[in-house]
Amino acid sequence: MANILITGGAGFIGSHLTRLFVNKYPQYQIVNLDKLTYAGNLENLKDIENAPNYTFVKGDICDEQLLQSLFEKYQFTSILHCAAESHVDRSITDPLSFVRTNVIGTVTLLQVAKEFWKNNMDGKLFYHISTDEVYGSLGETGFFVEDTAYDPRSPYSASKASSDHFVRAYHHTYKLPIKISNCSNNYGPFHFPEKLIPLCIHNIINNKPLPIYGKGENVRDWLFVEDHVSAIDTIFHNGKIGETYNIGGHNEWTNIALVKELCKQMDAKLNREPGTNEKLLTYVTDRAGHDMRYAIDATKLKEELGWMPSLQFEEGLSKTIDWYLANTEWLTNVTSGAYQKYYEGMYGA
Ligand code: NAD
Ligand code: TYD
Repeated sequence: MANILITGGAGFIGSHLTRLFVNKYPQYQIVNLDKLTYAGNLENLKDIENAPNYTFVKGDICDEQLLQSLFEKYQFTSILHCAAESHVDRSITDPLSFVRTNVIGTVTLLQVAKEFWKNNMDGKLFYHISTDEVYGSLGETGFFVEDTAYDPRSPYSASKASSDHFVRAYHHTYKLPIKISNCSNNYGPFHFPEKLIPLCIHNIINNKPLPIYGKGENVRDWLFVEDHVSAIDTIFHNGKIGETYNIGGHNEWTNIALVKELCKQMDAKLNREPGTNEKLLTYVTDRAGHDMRYAIDATKLKEELGWMPSLQFEEGLSKTIDWYLANTEWLTNVTSGAYQKYYEGMYGA
């Protein structure tokens, strides 16, 4: 038995994680606490909303009283902390909302967990889900390992780095049992179309320009979201208390090569002439402070816990495109309303 609080479970990664835990562990009681910001969507969890071991609570991780009442009611034994503001571009225009949720929200959660668990930390776990962006930006060579010095360079990564530091500080100072994982860029179903891959899929479907920042030479290391949550499952159950694990799939792509692969696959899937979608490629002004390259060395996770990614990128991308093509209603719903305003502010038309 375990009573688990998942925060941010209505978001992209959180919804995959919640689904995995609800379905795979019927003996666990799962409470999903999510504020339902623009990025949170209960449609992402339709298939499990009536599961007997699942409860949804709408609320903010910064709300200490709400957290206390939830701890009282559900007597949590573990926390899987996913809730965050997660988009670099939004962090450039509105850094304070990132400080609020990612830093203050995380510390509020740590504080409440510490108070509730202080008399008996046995069997308790605060699992913090984080990003490789805390390590900064790589040149053409090298990889991020677990003890790479932190060097965050965007307001997003600075807020996540800060939250990681607080999680470690609670472990060292108060002996709070913690684990942290830092993962590379994720892609897959239910990804909000503000991020590169779902934004380009959405624009290709609608014959709209594909905005490539700068020269498109920046490199990201992509992992299918179901592989990320399977790694979290492995670390949650078998990882060591107090440890950090990097998660990644050795799958580096320049943005331009990735979007061209997407164009090619979608030409075929949409019965368009080869080369049609590439005509939509449009180079736009670069992101301020754009990190050049991220690349994860996940050797520790492989050697200590035996975890490996299951999917090749081309296959994962194909599955992802198929999901979006089969779920145009989801895409229409999330891109109506506030999304239009965001898109016009970011990209013009
Ligand atoms: P997301 O933006 O899709 O989802 C975030 C969720 O958190 C949403 O459901 C939102 O409603 C909720 N939320 C936001 N503020 C909240 C608050 N104050 N209180 C309660 N809920 C709140 O993000 P994601 O891409 O699923 O990322 C989840 C976690 O994984 C984040 O911590 C992120 O830093 C980390 N991560 C993401 C990636 C990636 O590629 N997306 C890679 C590595 C790590
Ligand atoms: P993104 O999906 O926002 O993830 P992150 O910035 O966290 O890595 O962006 C991935 C890469 O794609 C990044 O180098 C920025 C670039 N990008 C574009 O070229 N155009 C776009 O419209 C977006 C959203 C991103």
